[in-house]
Amino acid sequence: MALPSPGPDSTCLVTGASSGIGTEIARQLARRGHGVTLVARRKKKLVELANELSASHRIRSEVIVCDLTDEDSRTALAPALETKGLAVDVLVNNAGLTTMGPVAKGDRLKELAMIRTDVEAVVDLCTIFVPGMVERGRGAILNTASTAAFQPLPGQAGYGASKAFVLSYTHALRAELKAKKISVTALCPGPVDTGFGEAAGISDEEAAAALPKIMWVSASEVARSAVDGMDRNKAVVIPGAANKIGAAAGYLAPRSLILGFMTSRHPALQD
Ligand SMILES: NC(=O)c1ccc[n+]([C@@H]2O[C@H](COP(=O)([O-])OP(=O)(O)OC[C@H]3O[C@@H](n4cnc5c(N)ncnc54)[C@H](OP(=O)(O)O)[C@@H]3O)[C@@H](O)[C@H]2O)c1
Repeated sequence: MALPSPGPDSTCLVTGASSGIGTEIARQLARRGHGVTLVARRKKKLVELANELSASHRIRSEVIVCDLTDEDSRTALAPALETKGLAVDVLVNNAGLTTMGPVAKGDRLKELAMIRTDVEAVVDLCTIFVPGMVERGRGAILNTASTAAFQPLPGQAGYGASKAFVLSYTHALRAELKAKKISVTALCPGPVDTGFGEAAGISDEEAAAALPKIMWVSASEVARSAVDGMDRNKAVVIPGAANKIGAAAGYLAPRSLILGFMTSRHPALQD
């Protein structure tokens, strides 16, 4: 099982392609000759990337503007691709966001938007596109979780839980699809310098102070490891040695120990 070969009737659908890790995953796939379907809300960023990729790699690329929190927008994805005669051979569920701060100060609508994007959309897009992969007997799926998936995360409780969901869901999907020759991979990055922390109200300085430099991996390196991992049908990709150790520690350490440590260090819990 590996990444399916590029073909004129197939595409790699990448969510969250307008920024950060998603942009770089789209670049990696285009570099390998795959046509890409770029999905997010910011049309201008998507169009700029589509033009860049088509020009640099002579691949087909198109943009679908979609708010992944919205069920109707998600429902419209498959017919839009069918109209173009394209089947999704590679599905990258990468779009995501986090909220920051204690649950007691949470904004209800922001919490719900996070769960809809980070959890509901992942399940929905797999449910929409996996049956076609099974029918055709080929496909690859990459779901972006996080090292936050390996232990609860006070200060980002909903986010940590949503990524634990994605990791568990991806493992189960992988087991279901093993006999169908479809590769399924969970990407679990540690800290990556994208617009992600800033969008949640954490400054670069606060993030750098909370997480040692050795844990930071660039978005392009994360994407390279992710696409390579998909091609090798790895179950889980954790970019960076320090993050592999951190994830193992988070998974194995006694909960009381790890929760005390994380609560004391999280920048959103310091007042
Ligand atoms: N950066 C990190 O430190 C880090 C660490 C571990 C895991 N991750 C995970 O990596 C993934 C990518 O994050 P990133 O670091 O690349 O962050 P980013 O630069 O902020 O990108 C997030 C992407 O998600 C899209 N998105 C957010 N809400 C959306 C919605 N409602 N509908 C459609 N698209 C939406 C954004 O596009 P629009 O705004 O244009 O819609 C953007 O393309 C996320 O799943 C994140 O949880 C990040």
